[in-house]
Amino acid sequence: MTRKVGVLMGSSSDLPAMRGALEVLDGLEIPREVRVLSAHRTPEEAADYARTAAERGLGVLICGAGMAAHLAGVVASHSLLPVIGVPMGGSFMGMDAMLATAQMPPGVPVACVAVGGAGAKNAAWLAARILSLSDAELRGRLEAAREAMRAGVLAADAEVSASE
Ligand code: RP5
Repeated sequence: MTRKVGVLMGSSSDLPAMRGALEVLDGLEIPREVRVLSAHRTPEEAADYARTAAERGLGVLICGAGMAAHLAGVVASHSLLPVIGVPMGGSFMGMDAMLATAQMPPGVPVACVAVGGAGAKNAAWLAARILSLSDAELRGRLEAAREAMRAGVLAADAEVSASE
């Protein structure tokens, strides 16, 4: 059975961008749970979530946060699960959140993806690849999804090259 992915965000204002991750996970039939937990506003709850995530059967944690985006780093400091950080856009076009997410000290890694909704989608694709290492059925679904992407681009190529 495919392990569950935890999708966390620092604020409900992050949900529109983080929906990209949920849609990709749902499309790949990966079970997931969603929580709003803040490294700064609910530090105890965020730490508790991270400490108990592995024993509750989660396999990868995705954390979206903006501004001084410490959620992914705090979660990675309390769990040995792979953590993927999604910087939210906004002030400084998300550069503040991207640096806060990526610049982790050695030994406490966070895989930082692109800013905003595109990053949220890729966080889910990356989580799927991690889980597929020990899940042959999921690997099959990933291969099918890649083939569908390829077919989509080839169809667009045929349409554009014939009409332009
Ligand atoms: C961060 O501060 C959140 O992840 C969000 O991106 C940002 C602003 O939060 P709100 O003021 O909209 O709740 O912690």
